[in-house]
Amino acid sequence: MYAYDEIDRTLVNERVSEFRDQVKRRLSGELTEDEFKLLRLQNGVYLQLHAYMFRVAIPYGTLASKQLRRLAHVARTYDRGYGHFTTRQNIQFNWIKLAELPDALADLAEVGIHAMQTSGNNMRNVTSDQWAGVAPGEIEDPRIWSELIRQHTTLHPEFSFLPRKFKIAITASDHDRAAIKIHDIGLRLVRNEKGETGFEVLVGGGLGRTPFIAKTIKHFVHGRDILSYIEAILRVYNQYGRRDNIYKARIKILVHELGIEKFSREVEDEWQHIRNSSLQIDDEVIEDIRSRFTYPAYEKLPHMPDELRQAAADPDFEAWRKNSVAAHKVQGYSIVTISLKPTGKPPGDATAEQMDALADLADKYSFGEIRVGHEQNLALPHVAKRDLPALWKALDKLGLATPNVNLITDIIACPGLDYCSLANARSIPIAQELTRRFANHELANLIGRLHINISGCINACGHHHVGHIGILGVEKNGEEVYQITIGGRADENAALGNLIGPGVKFDEVADVVEDVVEAYLALRERPEELFIDTVKRLGVEPFKERVYATR
Ligand code: HEM
Ligand code: SF4
Repeated sequence: MYAYDEIDRTLVNERVSEFRDQVKRRLSGELTEDEFKLLRLQNGVYLQLHAYMFRVAIPYGTLASKQLRRLAHVARTYDRGYGHFTTRQNIQFNWIKLAELPDALADLAEVGIHAMQTSGNNMRNVTSDQWAGVAPGEIEDPRIWSELIRQHTTLHPEFSFLPRKFKIAITASDHDRAAIKIHDIGLRLVRNEKGETGFEVLVGGGLGRTPFIAKTIKHFVHGRDILSYIEAILRVYNQYGRRDNIYKARIKILVHELGIEKFSREVEDEWQHIRNSSLQIDDEVIEDIRSRFTYPAYEKLPHMPDELRQAAADPDFEAWRKNSVAAHKVQGYSIVTISLKPTGKPPGDATAEQMDALADLADKYSFGEIRVGHEQNLALPHVAKRDLPALWKALDKLGLATPNVNLITDIIACPGLDYCSLANARSIPIAQELTRRFANHELANLIGRLHINISGCINACGHHHVGHIGILGVEKNGEEVYQITIGGRADENAALGNLIGPGVKFDEVADVVEDVVEAYLALRERPEELFIDTVKRLGVEPFKERVYATR
């Protein structure tokens, strides 16, 4: 876990009192909604369809149990008893009252949580792998670098008035769980021939109206130079980025228009000016941050404890274990993913009671730590294998043991028309219907790894472009219509999906998904061939035929 220092605490507390004053002025009418907008966005507050919405950052997805308890408290005290975990390691509260927002922020600040830069045209929450620091084989804990960038970019003038929002994600594993290729900057920790740690830097990824997969701009930037290199990128973006057209303002458009070669030359030029400045990071700075990440005092445990061996006889336990439990870097421990996708419920929602109970379980079984991943699930990062059966039973009682992680009902969905003022169509009810259709675990298991992503409009908050099956809601003649893509993915081989044909109506979406899945089951070469690989091998045509033959 990372421990805040005095600077962080002062900064966060000062922001709360500033915001309290701003809210007071809004409530008294001294500020118009327009004047207030800029100020509220700086504190993660949006105005949505029905109410203000409050977005809170969870840096690199790491939470202490007391922080999760405090989020539960905010949900219970100031909202309607639940929160919504998003694809960007944030949590959103949908029904917050403006007058109470400063109190909510103050309560969160006490446990080192803030909402700075969770909206507005600035550097957003620097995200990372939810298994950071515990995944076997990673180069080093990527959160050290996320934290360095967080500190450097928080309230930094160069990054506070960007042409548009800006997102960085970092991974240190071969398998990318941070979706770095769909970020403005993606960083992958690598080691050079000398054994030094550095970064492969990717730039220009992003979804939304004009989706792009990021391109590698440099294969190796030494760790000590990463801030100056990022700053060089941001300077070029600040200089050339379109401020006249919101749709063309993201760095992906600039990279596309200049071309990666020209863009990288500009960055290189800029970098040479600032590379040897105070932006070069001293080893002590990194060591200081490293020392603030503490790891549990792991015990020496057997690889296969008796408790696990005995529980393996229970098929329900095994069904859950197979897709929820992953290998840990320390023998005898596991990483447990907690599905926030129970049948019939909105993906990513957790009630205050569930959050409180999870905090207790984290204390009991995971050294008080919880992680939030971009798939809208949570994880307990340090569970002793002998505790897995007991943990499973406890999770099951809370409705948090749905055995569907990475299966077809582990759906990512944005809030869509149920909450979002920009939406063209509903997302959540589509997700709910699909979880009901595929609730049968045997069937879901037979289908295997398959990610469905749903967005209620072209902004792509639900990452539909990179879903194995992507569902995008659009509006046509006052009706909700859904475009279906297949073949997208968000991992190290990130790709955008391809449209299979004309949009379909709300009521037809689940049938179409069923058709696509049936086509896959008939077309796959062997049971191990994943949906995504079948689509890669055959393209969209056979799926298109299956879906549209009868429509
Ligand atoms: C309900 C309030 C929300 C609003 C008003 C909103 C608005 C937007 C807008 C306007 C964009 C496009 C920005 C651009 O391309 O420059 C966007 C992108 C995005 N949003 Fe949201 N969003 C909301 C909620 C969410 C939620 C709940 C999630 C997660 C489930 C989310 C995750 C994302 C992501 C990942 C993108 C990235 C697309 C990209 O690569 O640029 N947003 N959002
Ligand atoms: S994709 Fe569109 S509908 Fe969904 S949350 Fe984002 S802006 Fe709203």
